[in-house]
Amino acid sequence: MARQRFGSLFAFLLYSLVFPFVNSQALTNDQIDQVKTRLAEGARQSWELGTRAQALIEYDVPFYSVLNDTSLPPPQDGPAGQLSEVFSIVQDVVGNRSRSNDDIQGPQPFMQDGSAADPASLGVAVLLANWTGLSSSDGLDYAGAAQDQLNYLLNEVPRTSDGAISHRVSQVQLWSDFVYMVPPFLAYYGVLTDNQTLVREAYNQIKLYRDYLRDDGANGLWKHVLLGSSGNDEGHWSTGNAWAAAGMLRVLGTIQHSPFPKSFKNEQKDLQKWVTEIMDGMYPWLQPSGLFRNYADNNSTFEDASSTALLTSAVYRHSLLSGVHRHLPDAERSRQALSAPANSSNPPAPNNSNSSLVHFTSNMWLTPVVNPHSYGVQGRESPEGQAFVVEMQAAWRDWVNDGSKGANGALKTGGSPNAIAVAVAAILALRLW
Ligand SMILES: *[C@@H]1O[C@H](CO)[C@@H](O)[C@H](O)[C@H]1NC(C)=O
Ligand SMILES: *[C@@H]1O[C@H](CO)[C@@H](O)[C@H](O)[C@H]1NC(C)=O
Ligand SMILES: *[C@@H]1O[C@H](CO)[C@@H](O)[C@H](O)[C@H]1NC(C)=O
Ligand SMILES: *[C@@H]1O[C@H](CO)[C@@H](O)[C@H](O)[C@H]1NC(C)=O
Ligand SMILES: *[C@@H]1O[C@H](CO)[C@@H](O)[C@H](O)[C@H]1NC(C)=O
Ligand SMILES: *[C@@H]1O[C@H](CO)[C@@H](O)[C@H](O)[C@H]1NC(C)=O
Ligand SMILES: *[C@@H]1O[C@H](CO)[C@@H](O)[C@H](O)[C@H]1NC(C)=O
Ligand SMILES: *[C@@H]1O[C@H](CO)[C@@H](O)[C@H](O)[C@H]1NC(C)=O
Ligand SMILES: *[C@@H]1O[C@H](CO)[C@@H](O)[C@H](O)[C@H]1NC(C)=O
Repeated sequence: MARQRFGSLFAFLLYSLVFPFVNSQALTNDQIDQVKTRLAEGARQSWELGTRAQALIEYDVPFYSVLNDTSLPPPQDGPAGQLSEVFSIVQDVVGNRSRSNDDIQGPQPFMQDGSAADPASLGVAVLLANWTGLSSSDGLDYAGAAQDQLNYLLNEVPRTSDGAISHRVSQVQLWSDFVYMVPPFLAYYGVLTDNQTLVREAYNQIKLYRDYLRDDGANGLWKHVLLGSSGNDEGHWSTGNAWAAAGMLRVLGTIQHSPFPKSFKNEQKDLQKWVTEIMDGMYPWLQPSGLFRNYADNNSTFEDASSTALLTSAVYRHSLLSGVHRHLPDAERSRQALSAPANSSNPPAPNNSNSSLVHFTSNMWLTPVVNPHSYGVQGRESPEGQAFVVEMQAAWRDWVNDGSKGANGALKTGGSPNAIAVAVAAILALRLW
């Protein structure tokens, strides 16, 4: 233990020597507040609302986040007042549901949607509303809404012959996005209702999705959309890979902090391995700018700050939850690039001449971003991208608070050759000194 502590301290000192400006470039609280305001204005679609709720939990009330080390289920009389902004999202959704369907019970999504999966992204926030007793003040039936959403997914949405739940309502089709939308809801539902079968189902769905979408011919990157009669996308969409990694980490955190982590030892190992696999597939494609392209391994696609922010957040989370640090130097590079102030050699992005930042407009929309409603083309304002920035900042903050473990990426689990070379060079330099 003492040795380990000394090791981390040494790593930190070494890192400070090699990268003296490591933490100097970050978005301010005021800037993040503006990012959140744009997010609130822009989020309308089911998964945008669900992702916004998740980002607010991670940034504003980490006590209730499955990624925090709070044990699950959380106390029912905890600081739920701090969740009011999150709860206003699900109040609107669940309130509209009972108005639009005359309060009919039975299997149904939280919101009507062509995607069978996206509405479930609201599930964790709805379950929290029920758990902390919001119904007693607003009279809405959060438990019923969650149960109907669960039964809809389990019993009504079509599946592949081996059991993967479709991402779409109208045909069986698998999208990498699914991993962020559905399994975290199933796992959290399982933990709050003491139902290990549901936790296992969260894992099974991820395993099935990986079996279909992982591309061995592309170093383990995931394809975006498979099966169905139209709309396939076999490219390695960066946001899709980031959705999958981030979704797996939320399930991993849920299991780790649950009362029964020992019943899921192999599942946890698999999830950690599968997150590492995506990161190992992605990072060789990180551009000199610190951003990923929209399709990571396709040079003719544009650079996309949105997927970059989500995968960056996942690297800090993977470090905190799994102790895998090898992509931290890359994540730091991306985070600093996305937070960079504009100057004469690093001008503000196009259409953005008044901004003081390279990757945000003057009112704090992230740029450049993929169009969140048309994944092949560049867009202008991306609500999900705004949420990813908030998640990146929260993950980075939690990692710094935890002592920036593994900051040089080399001294623990499997450093990249570059980071090892830097560390060796630094040690030699110190000795010569
Ligand atoms: C957990 O949340 C607390 C605040 O509630 C925060 O101080 C701490 O850094 C978080 N820890 C992790 C590992 O996220
Ligand atoms: C709920 O209904 C109100 C009033 O029709 C509408 O303005 C709002 O956008 C709806 N919210 C959602 C999440 O559908
Ligand atoms: C709703 O919360 C109650 C505790 O207040 C809990 O007993 C119940 O299992 C929860 N229902 C769901 C679906 O999470
Ligand atoms: C767990 O959840 C599943 C799906 O809702 C349900 O069929 C099963 O009966 C539950 N198991 C227990 C022990 O409650
Ligand atoms: C790369 O992206 C371009 C532009 O979107 C597209 O036309 C091309 O088919 C893609 N190449 C591959 C191998 O996917
Ligand atoms: C993409 O660009 C990199 C760097 O410019 C180059 O090394 C690589 O061969 C290119 N890949 C493809 C598939 O064109
Ligand atoms: C401009 O900003 C970049 C990135 O923050 C920095 O590396 C560079 O030194 C700055 N250049 C000038 C001229 O200030
Ligand atoms: C920049 O600010 C000036 C003065 O406030 C304003 O006239 C101009 O329209 C702004 N340009 C952009 C691109 O926002
Ligand atoms: C810049 O502004 C023009 C005109 O409003 C718009 O057509 C174009 O899409 C914008 N470009 C970016 C990268 O936002």
